[in-house]
Amino acid sequence: MKKKTIGPEVQKVRESLFASFEEKKKELEDSALDEKLNSGWIDVTKNYPRTHGSIHPLSRVQKRVEEIFTSMGFEIYEGPEVETEWRNFDALNIPSTHPARDMQDTFFINSKNDDPHKNTVLRTHTSNNQIRRMMEGGVPVRVAVPGRCYRNEAIDASHDAIFYQVEGLMVDKGISLAHLKGTIQTMLSELFEREVTIRFRPGYFPFVEPGLEVDFSCLICNGKGCKTCKNSGWIEFMGAGMVHPNVLRNCGVDPEEYSGFAFGFGLTRLAMMKYGIDDIRLLFSQKKEFLAQF
Ligand code: PHE
Repeated sequence: MKKKTIGPEVQKVRESLFASFEEKKKELEDSALDEKLNSGWIDVTKNYPRTHGSIHPLSRVQKRVEEIFTSMGFEIYEGPEVETEWRNFDALNIPSTHPARDMQDTFFINSKNDDPHKNTVLRTHTSNNQIRRMMEGGVPVRVAVPGRCYRNEAIDASHDAIFYQVEGLMVDKGISLAHLKGTIQTMLSELFEREVTIRFRPGYFPFVEPGLEVDFSCLICNGKGCKTCKNSGWIEFMGAGMVHPNVLRNCGVDPEEYSGFAFGFGLTRLAMMKYGIDDIRLLFSQKKEFLAQF
């Protein structure tokens, strides 16, 4: 009889004891974990021996250039290295009969078709991305496009068949060469952390009109003339100009309403200038003694 009445009572007490036991256990575990988290976190990067890897000078310069353009309101865009013949040439006002095609010795991936939309090349410049970006996103546009390009060239101290360019494109209502000048002068001055001046010379590229060659003041001799600038005081920097109306039209943009500038420069020369590297081949040499300096 007693068992019948006391049994459930005992069971109740047992359950409540178990519950408070579990509760206390959890509390202790939580506080132990908190303590551990608060006291001893491990910095896995501390004192890590630098046994391998550093950031390549080209990547460093590219990253900095991207940061500067971003700070000026440009978006960063990237396109593929294998491009249609149409985007690399035709859309940029360079039809197959155009003598300007000889300016860029091209690696063709596929050249069997009559249709330039079907043939493919290793892009010879980043200008193809003017087309991509305007066709995809329309205008107004303010974009910088870093990328690797390919030309079938003889390799020497200042040329390589693979090189890195940065394309720039700004299209809106009322854009002029003054905007180009301000943009480039600011970018270079930020990059080199000192006042850099630029100058325009007439140049020819079928996708711009007028076309320009842009030089910047030599940073080694401050414009007085030295070996690096071949005594001219200026460093040849990039091609640029106002986007040709045909290019705008090919991308569905009305040249009566919109205008813009475009430019394309090599990253290699900038990296060489920034770090005082005198032979382009060092950049791709994989020499440890060279790379370990960065
Ligand atoms: N694409 C040209 C080159 O590779 C450079 C350029 C870009 C010129 C944009 C004008 C405008 O030489």
